[in-house]
Amino acid sequence: MTTSPPPIDPFSSADLGPLKLRNRFVKAATFEGLTRETVVSDRLVEFHRQIAAGGIAMTTVAYCAVSPEGSTDGSTLLLRQEAVPGLTRLADVVHAEGALVSAQIGHAGLVANPAATGLPSIGPTRQLNPLAMRRSLAASEDEIARITQAFADGARYVADAGFDAVEVHLGHGYLLSSFLSPKLNTRTDRWGGSLENRARFPRQVLAAVREAAGERMAVTAKLNMSDGVPGGFWLDESVEVARWLEQDGTVDALELTGGSSLENPMYYFRGEAPVAEMAQIMPRPIRRAFKLVGGHFLHSYPFEEGYFLPYARQFRAALHLPLILLGGVGSMATVRQAMDDGFEFVAMGRALLREPDLVQQWQAGQDQDSLCIHCNKCMPTIYGGTHCVLVPRDERLGR
Ligand SMILES: Cc1cc2nc3c(=O)[nH]c(=O)nc-3n(C[C@H](O)[C@H](O)[C@H](O)COP(=O)(O)O)c2cc1C
Ligand code: SF4
Repeated sequence: MTTSPPPIDPFSSADLGPLKLRNRFVKAATFEGLTRETVVSDRLVEFHRQIAAGGIAMTTVAYCAVSPEGSTDGSTLLLRQEAVPGLTRLADVVHAEGALVSAQIGHAGLVANPAATGLPSIGPTRQLNPLAMRRSLAASEDEIARITQAFADGARYVADAGFDAVEVHLGHGYLLSSFLSPKLNTRTDRWGGSLENRARFPRQVLAAVREAAGERMAVTAKLNMSDGVPGGFWLDESVEVARWLEQDGTVDALELTGGSSLENPMYYFRGEAPVAEMAQIMPRPIRRAFKLVGGHFLHSYPFEEGYFLPYARQFRAALHLPLILLGGVGSMATVRQAMDDGFEFVAMGRALLREPDLVQQWQAGQDQDSLCIHCNKCMPTIYGGTHCVLVPRDERLGR
């Protein structure tokens, strides 16, 4: 008779590359909107201190642009020498709370807003950027080399600041994700066409980041399993890319996501589409138009607990690499299910915006579900200090 192994305790420690995480809970990247001057602010430090004090093992600072045109709106934290002292202070404060800290590093590509950055956006091919109503540039060989170097430099700045990990953004339609997409990447050179060619740039970046990160830091990647659009990157290809990343030995874990900030944002959130609230933060001339057509762009999906689990299981079956389950994790039942299914970690975004100390509550034996109602009204708050709209003003993160 065979006996099944004992269930993994989600509050037990676990290895992530060179790191020891105190438990299995990671704070997912939720752009904090607290870096007006493109460097760390006191409020950003306080935001992550509160998250760290709430019991998670590792928090993620988001989003850190590796180059000025790769910033989403021009006020994103920009990785450069001047950012290092602030990042060091943030890392020290998180460490003092007993948690580790990761930086999500990326290039927004077609998701960048050229009106805000003052620079043209860059994608795999020249195309109309619907967010800015301007044409983007197709990345040249030189730009691909420059951006690869910028990722490596970004990882080095983060390492110099004493961070524990970097998460390379390969999802949500950002630059590296758009290169993976058969729909967006129709190049005919060695960077487009076959899956091997489309994966070349992301793999090259990860190899450069791995080298720059050194022995002390973990390297993870946030990878789209599906873009959530017809003709986009989907499981048949994303599982294969994940296998290549495992073989390359460039990542210590993968965090699995989906959707596209450019083409289908609600695919990675699920729940209500905050059309009226998004329209409210737009410039007056396009506000009315957005109210009319925003429901199409923000096509909504019903929320389900652990909504990416069926897709993520395909990766678990194909890989040995540690995997981080993301997407609608808001109950201990889902966390236990994830552990039973062989995921090493879970990542949570909105549940922790709603209740930063949820993990501590769970650890104390309170098994209640998250109070997040998936209204997604936190989405439009990213421009003025990301917060859950149900949390009283004086209790908000980074107040
Ligand atoms: C306000 C907000 C900001 C976000 N910003 C980012 C970001 O900068 N980078 C990223 O990869 N994902 C971002 N996300 C997506 C989350 O990381 C996560 O993929 C998504 O919220 C689903 O996880 P959840 O159900 O635990 O919230 C953001 C989510 C929210 C709610
Ligand atoms: S605003 Fe609050 S309740 Fe609504 S989705 Fe965001 S975190 Fe959840």
